Order: sequence, then C-alpha cells, then structure tokens
Amino acid sequence: MDRRTTPDRRDLTVSVYGAGQLGGGVSRILASRHGYEVRGPYGRHDRQQALTSGADVVVIATTSFLDQVAPDIEEAVEAGSNVIASAEECAYPWAVDLDVAQALDARARERQVTIVGAGVNPGFAFDALVLVASGAAPDVADIRVERVVNISGFSAAILGRLGVGYELADFARGVDDGRVHGHIGFPQSMRVVADALGVTLDRIDRHLEPVVADRDYEAAHLSIPAGRTAGFRQSYTGVVAGREWFRCVFFGHVDLGAVGETPRDIIDIGGTTPLHFTIEPGLNPQSGSSAVIANSIRRVAAAAPGWVTVADLTCALPT
Ligand SMILES: NC(=O)c1ccc[n+]([C@@H]2O[C@H](COP(=O)([O-])OP(=O)(O)OC[C@H]3O[C@@H](n4cnc5c(N)ncnc54)[C@H](OP(=O)(O)O)[C@@H]3O)[C@@H](O)[C@H]2O)c1
Repeated sequence: MDRRTTPDRRDLTVSVYGAGQLGGGVSRILASRHGYEVRGPYGRHDRQQALTSGADVVVIATTSFLDQVAPDIEEAVEAGSNVIASAEECAYPWAVDLDVAQALDARARERQVTIVGAGVNPGFAFDALVLVASGAAPDVADIRVERVVNISGFSAAILGRLGVGYELADFARGVDDGRVHGHIGFPQSMRVVADALGVTLDRIDRHLEPVVADRDYEAAHLSIPAGRTAGFRQSYTGVVAGREWFRCVFFGHVDLGAVGETPRDIIDIGGTTPLHFTIEPGLNPQSGSSAVIANSIRRVAAAAPGWVTVADLTCALPT
C-alpha cells in the first residue's frame, strides 16, 4: 500500500480579493512561505484581475453576506479557481439562500473546483474545533461554546456591523434595520456541527444585548465616547426535540481588561463522559482567521468538487 508521508508541496497560485485586514493578513502569511505565488491583495478597482486570473485558489475577504459575494464566487469558479470565502454566511450558505447555494455548488462540480466558507468564527471555534473535540466523546448530549474576545482590532466597518460605537437607541434601531448584527455566522457553525453529527435542529434562538462604555475608549480604528456601545453579549441556542442542544455564547469588548475579562474560548461537550476544553488566551480574531484561511489553501485545492463545509475538509495545516 502506498502511504503518503509528506503533504502535497505542489506550488499553488493564490489570488486574494479584499485588501482589508484579512486579505492583507492571509497574503502576508502565504508570502512568507515557500510553495505559494500570491497575487494581490486586490481592492475593488482590481476586481476582474482578482477573480478571473485562473489562480489555483481565490480568497474572497470582502464582506459577510452571501448575496454580496455570490457574483464574485461565480466569476472565480467560471475561471476554474477553487474559492475560500471569509463571508460568515458562506460557512453554511444553504440556510441563507438555498437557490444560490445549490446553483454555485452545481457550477463548482461542473468546473471541478471547491468552494468553502472559512475563518475562525465561523470556520473553526464554533464548528471545526467542536467536531474535533467531540471525537473523544463516547456520545454528545449537548454542546456549549463560550468565546470572550477582544474586538478592538477590527476595522470601523466591522465594529459598526458588530454593534460598537452606537448610542443605545441607535443600537436598537440598527438591529431592526439591519445595520447591527452582532457577530455573524453562529447559525452557520451550528448547522455545520449538527449536519456532521447527524442531528436536526428544530430552531435557533438568538439574543443580542449592547454593553455601554463607562468611559471613553480608543479602539485601533474607532473612538468610542462614554455612553456609547463598546461591546456586546450575544448567544445563539440550537434547540433539538424541545431542549437546548447547542449553545454559543460570545462576549466581545474593545477593552476586556477594563471590564474584568480575559480572552478565552471554552468548549463543553456534555454526555456520559463530559469534556471541557479551555483555550487561553483565546483565538485571535485577526491573526487566527488569517491563519485558518492561509492554512486552508492546500486542503481546499485537494478537496472534492462542489460547495463544502469545513466539516468535509481535512485539518487546516500551516504548510
Ligand atoms: N469567517 C470568519 O471567521 C471571518 C474572520 C474575519 C473576517 N471575516 C469577514 O471577512 C470580511 C473581511 O474582513 P476584514 O477584517 O478584512 O474587513 P476589513 O478590514 O473591513 O476589510 C474589508 C475590505 O473589503 C472591501 N470590501 C467591503 N465590501 C466589499 C464588497 N462588497 N466588494 C468588494 N470589496 C469590499 C473593503 O473595501 P472598502 O474599504 O472600500 O469598503 C475593505 O478593503 C468581513 O466581512 C468580516 O466580517 C470573517
């Protein structure tokens, strides 16, 4: 029997669309390694060049929403490229827009390329890592994951989407009119895990509340005066057969130390042999996501065609 002992080291071309923090971070990691030709990161004005060069893998690190990245994914797939999208909704697109997801999945199969949505959250903390952890459990009765995250490094655009920098009334209006989302992608992670474990979720409940600044704060890209939101508490609960099966809890703040918190990630797998995992300090939202995507280039290039989830892929490896 032939046993492969070293990873595939074929040189790969990678085109990065999105010249923000993530696109820049992924490009820097790959450029520091052998075996990659990095093109970009490209901004909006170089969209065509970014998407249609026929690179082995196109990384799309622009926005969070499936409808906004679907045309970009389509162009890259048509050009014969595998695609990694950081858009949180792409981690499990079937629950966002079934028609779009199925059409792109079919086209990717025809073109023999792979599409996946990945990052740290979704793509790792609430899904891939949970599945790996459950591999040591005899059974899984329920799952709880808690993340406490320093969100001070995000761009002003992302902080705005998360719900940071608002007066309280405006935060509430933003939730209603779609400007404020909290952290996007929790239902996607839950569905990735549920599918992989063969569980059907009845529904997913959501709770989002603002955390108001007691003093002025300076985030890397946003000043937050006292009285405005400096963070948020969020939870999603996946219900199965009338009881809580998967609970994701997230506390994000621009200065965790100031509110007596430290960054951490905690995974609890309930069952006959309960398992408890703590990661301290927690996964870094910027460098962690850049790493997951950079470490996914080879596994996506080698994956089966179609739109897959991180549960369908081998481990992300820094190779
Ligand atoms: N799955 C995960 O774990 C994960 C992790 C990190 C980030 N993300 C998501 O990935 C996206 C990028 O993150 P980031 O930290 O790099 O954000 P960022 O620093 O705000 O950068 C985003 C970049 O993309 C550009 N852009 C925004 N919308 C675009 C569009 N519709 N078409 C083309 N370009 C667009 C922006 O250009 P302008 O400045 O001209 O608007 C900016 O250069 C965000 O939506 C973020 O939520 C996901």
